[in-house]
Amino acid sequence: MKKNRKGIILAGGTGSRLYPATLSISKQLLPIYDKPMIFYPLSVLMSAKIKEIAVIIREEDYKNFYDLLGDGSQFGISISYIFQPSPDGLAQAYILAEEFLNGHPSAMILGDNFFYGYYLREILEKASSREIATIFGYRVSDPSSYGVADFDSNGNVLSIEEKPTQPASNYAVTGLYFLDSSAPSKAKTIEPSKRGELEITSLLELYMHNNQLNLEKLGRGFAWLDTGTHENLLESANFIRSLQLRQGTQIGCLEEVALQNNWISKDQIKDQAKKFPKTLYGEYLQTFLD
Ligand code: TTP
Repeated sequence: MKKNRKGIILAGGTGSRLYPATLSISKQLLPIYDKPMIFYPLSVLMSAKIKEIAVIIREEDYKNFYDLLGDGSQFGISISYIFQPSPDGLAQAYILAEEFLNGHPSAMILGDNFFYGYYLREILEKASSREIATIFGYRVSDPSSYGVADFDSNGNVLSIEEKPTQPASNYAVTGLYFLDSSAPSKAKTIEPSKRGELEITSLLELYMHNNQLNLEKLGRGFAWLDTGTHENLLESANFIRSLQLRQGTQIGCLEEVALQNNWISKDQIKDQAKKFPKTLYGEYLQTFLD
């Protein structure tokens, strides 16, 4: 029987580009406009219908994360926490999560990545149903600041290069990776890079060399933001504020995604709404009850 896909949110790291704001709090708990940052990547995994999710964090942040998300049951999901002793790279997540994944395929998202767009759900479901690995490319004007992928017309990835001086394309590799069940064993074979990290690019290259890496383009209707700097954090907050106020909807509303997936009942929404009486978030939850 096909095993269901499990989720990983990578929410450790040092957040040094956001100092001093992140000296005493995890970056992923800072607000982006009206919600903690981690709500946004969590909503993406939930939109991909992923119910079992491990959040990789620093041990010292555990209480804060648990106070915020608990065991996930209020959103109809199960959340476990895995500690990363030091930030040794994105690919290390697969080694740390090996027991949690237990032979299941995975979708990993970086805790500071923001995705928004029409058809996101469909794109995620398509990626989720593929046997081979999927990464997501986003067209950027300054590719040399990113990991850049070259790919053919079928989306087969031909190369990935970190911060290239002569980029092979304008497509940045975003922080969302759908990999098969071999990711932990593959991650164990890669060597640390010059900066001492297990690089996600090295892991993806193993898939690429086996012709098992597909790139899905996130087109014009999409927003992808990495919220790791003060500028990007503010830009993301403004983006969310404008859309929410103009449309009267919420972005990254976990209860809404859970309700769409039939994972929680209206009674559970009511309980959640009671927690936020003075906010637009609470008012928004109330609209699902009316
Ligand atoms: P980065 O932004 O590359 O690193 P960082 O969060 O430590 O920030 P800074 O560069 O400002 O010091 O990390 C991308 C995401 O991955 C972010 O959400 C944190 C997470 N991460 C981990 O959880 N563990 C790691 O070992 C690394 C490198 C990152």
